[in-house]
Amino acid sequence: MRNCGQAIVLIGFMGSGKSAVGRAVAARMGVVCLDTDQMVRVHAGRGIPEIFEQLGEERFREMEAESLEELSGDKPVVVVTGGGIVLRKANVEVLQRLGLLVYLFADEETLFQRVAQCDNRPLLRTADPRATLHELHTARKPLYEEAADLSIDTSRRSIPQVVELVLHDIAAACTAKL
Ligand code: S3P
Repeated sequence: MRNCGQAIVLIGFMGSGKSAVGRAVAARMGVVCLDTDQMVRVHAGRGIPEIFEQLGEERFREMEAESLEELSGDKPVVVVTGGGIVLRKANVEVLQRLGLLVYLFADEETLFQRVAQCDNRPLLRTADPRATLHELHTARKPLYEEAADLSIDTSRRSIPQVVELVLHDIAAACTAKL
């Protein structure tokens, strides 16, 4: 295990449950939950779909990378990241310095069922969102796996179940490190 800061960083594809799990894990640990998408929204003064539409994906990626500069690993916090954060190697290096990277994953059908419930993912606003999801997921899966310290399967699990697993696996990883 790497020597790193005290943050717990959740990475994973859209629909993996990062936001809900992150908030609940932070509440259980009694720490703050920071969310890079939320930081970008506040900075840009508009929603993610509007940023993609009006400024383009590249500008979103720049703002996403900039949001990481506001984070530090010297306090225990939970950091929830956008699904594309791993596309830039420099982002992954920053996150790895912040703390432990926990990859939440699920099978593609589960991811699709979850993301289909709301229309706030600009990258999936295509003629065939299921095929787009497959393409993006295939390209990104190795990046998440490569970056992660821990991986947790969220398919067929409720948020509370995933939260328990995250807390258990983090505790086990920290004990192993002692
Ligand atoms: C993105 C995922 C989104 C958000 C943006 C781009 C991606 O976050 O950052 O729409 O590239 O996968 P979630 O993973 O929270 O949906």
